[in-house]
Amino acid sequence: MTADDPRAQAAHRANELRAEIENHNHRYYVLDDPSVTDAEFDRLFRELQALEAQHPELVTPDSPTQRVGGVAAAAFDSVTHSQPMLSLNNAFEVEEVEAFDRRVRELLGVDKLENEVDYAVEPKFDGLAISLRYEQGRLVSGATRGDGYTGEDVTANLRTIPSLPLRLPEGAPPLIEVRGEVLMLRADFERLNRQQQAQDAKLFANPRNAAAGSLRQLDSAITAQRRLTFFAYGLVSDNLQQPLDSHQQVIDFVKKLKFKVAPECAVVQGVAGLLGYYRQIGLKRESLPYDIDGVVYKVNSLAAQQKLGFVSRAPRFALAHKFPAEEAVSVVLGIDVQVGRTGALTPVARLEPVFVGGVTVTNATLHNIDQVRTKDVHVGDTVIVRRAGDVIPEVVRVAPEKRPAGAQRFEMPGVCPVCQSRVERIESEAAYRCTGGLYCPAQRKQALLHFASRRAMDIEGLGDRLVEQLVDRGLVATPADLYDQQRLTVETLAALDRMAEKSAENIVAAIAKSRHSTLARFLFALGIYHVGEEVAKILTRHFGSLEALLDADWNQLNAEKERIQKDNVKRKAKGLELRDVPLAGIGPEIMGSIANFLQQPHNREVITQLIQRGVVFAEERVAAGGAVSGKVFVLTGTLPTLGRDEAKAKIEAAGGKVTGSVSKKTDYVVAGAEAGSKLDKAQELGVEVIDEAGLLALLG
Ligand code: IVH
Repeated sequence: MTADDPRAQAAHRANELRAEIENHNHRYYVLDDPSVTDAEFDRLFRELQALEAQHPELVTPDSPTQRVGGVAAAAFDSVTHSQPMLSLNNAFEVEEVEAFDRRVRELLGVDKLENEVDYAVEPKFDGLAISLRYEQGRLVSGATRGDGYTGEDVTANLRTIPSLPLRLPEGAPPLIEVRGEVLMLRADFERLNRQQQAQDAKLFANPRNAAAGSLRQLDSAITAQRRLTFFAYGLVSDNLQQPLDSHQQVIDFVKKLKFKVAPECAVVQGVAGLLGYYRQIGLKRESLPYDIDGVVYKVNSLAAQQKLGFVSRAPRFALAHKFPAEEAVSVVLGIDVQVGRTGALTPVARLEPVFVGGVTVTNATLHNIDQVRTKDVHVGDTVIVRRAGDVIPEVVRVAPEKRPAGAQRFEMPGVCPVCQSRVERIESEAAYRCTGGLYCPAQRKQALLHFASRRAMDIEGLGDRLVEQLVDRGLVATPADLYDQQRLTVETLAALDRMAEKSAENIVAAIAKSRHSTLARFLFALGIYHVGEEVAKILTRHFGSLEALLDADWNQLNAEKERIQKDNVKRKAKGLELRDVPLAGIGPEIMGSIANFLQQPHNREVITQLIQRGVVFAEERVAAGGAVSGKVFVLTGTLPTLGRDEAKAKIEAAGGKVTGSVSKKTDYVVAGAEAGSKLDKAQELGVEVIDEAGLLALLG
């Protein structure tokens, strides 16, 4: 190609324009210091658009024209973070900050009298944590925090954020991950809500929700219109040309890479410095262009950070010092009862609307009846309401002097306000619960999700979104409906939102496959309150078949259990051998819950339908009489090849039992690397200790 080759010229000009446009973007969105007029910027942008339209082969994903978003996706892929995205420990009180500094000094060996620790301090952005990966200076992927280990790939949406560089300047490390927060500036939030209002669309409660909703758009063109901002506060990279020594240098470095960082970032000394910064930012909070919910303290030296390390999922070198939750005064107009997705009844105060913590609050949770009594909330009361971050608003206390005459005391209803099933009180939890189970519409979605979950009936692909649609469209009400072949056909499923023909076929196949299950999984899947996997296995072992379980007389069983338990006490005193207690491991509360569930005709109906529609149980592979059968195991430490769950599954499949703590009843302790106190206990009690090889030998 020669210099006057029109394609080469176009490519050259496109490159020039991109650099120039991105430079203006950086000046405008990051530095807040534009050097051209909007009209001039638009001219450059349109020239690039025209060039790319003429030469589509020149379009690159990091061209500024691509920031307008593109093709809508069906779902987000998941991304495993190269290093986990951790959370921060929180503090609200001065004493907690002092304790943090004390601990840091102790672990670093810094003597208070001589020295203070240097801390990097910055605002705690109230947005969403994001990790951005750049390879050879180009943005290749961006993900949400998710559970800290895997997040969602939202690259297409992130590309639309003007303050986020799509290309790093020359000389940037070949591989680098920049971490920070995506948020919506208050001004952009207000503009968005005005626009939403004009279009009669849903208003967002606060900038954080607006940012989250915008970032999770499957259509990036929508995200592009929302004006999000990215602030960087950290990075992951092993191969920097000049190693960095402090967090402050990290901040300066990402700034050089053209990222936006908070101008409020600073370095202070010791507790006095931390608390001074907290106060200073607290005073500035309202005038900042974005919402914050506190400040973050990080030990400045990176070597010291490394030395301090992590506990569970939070670094020991950092602390989030949160601002107190906001409070406001309102009046209780009524007390409603909501039925949660697990059947728990929650009293909720209906309030005179009040603006608190950035949103208008009309409801506040009273948690449970004990709280209603302790706080002594009556209908008509004037109350103090609190809201912190994304937490549900709550009633903090009542102003008793303002109680009107004849204010009504609140009582929990005897029947579920949604399905009219009987309500039971769970003594140990101060909770009231609807006994409707599978029948109660409020619990349907949760019940179906649980039924389909991996450790229950294991219906692959039947997740949140699908269950939501199936229930909302009245296609499925109970788990038995899933197996109704007339209802859930490939055609009906394929007609749902975001459901391709192929996925519909997969779902139908997954449902069919799940018909072959085991009794223990089935019992667990029913979602009977208190019946976890362990209890389901005990029930299976005891009854052997579903019919026997359905026929059981629970009163009689309870009575027999009690009799044998009492008898055993006597036998023990006389040194006689103890008798086996039926359903050992299932206490009276659990027995009651199972009995209650099985008493309800609608629950039995669902079970009958499930069986009629082809659910069958394979024999549980419980080897009778093997070396492991009936033996009690405790696992401790890390085994060389078997994971915990795997080892447990193998032992149980062979008829053994795995418990959490060592006692005289333990037959074997299986110890791996770094076994702890359980090993000591085993030796103390003379329990046999074996390793993985020993276990495998026992299992044959
Ligand atoms: S540092 C290992 N710095 O707080 C520490 N986080 O509770 C990683 N956050 O998920 C986080 N502002 O979303 C850090 N200046 C800041 C922050 C910040 C807000 C958020 C972030 C994270 C959460 C942790």
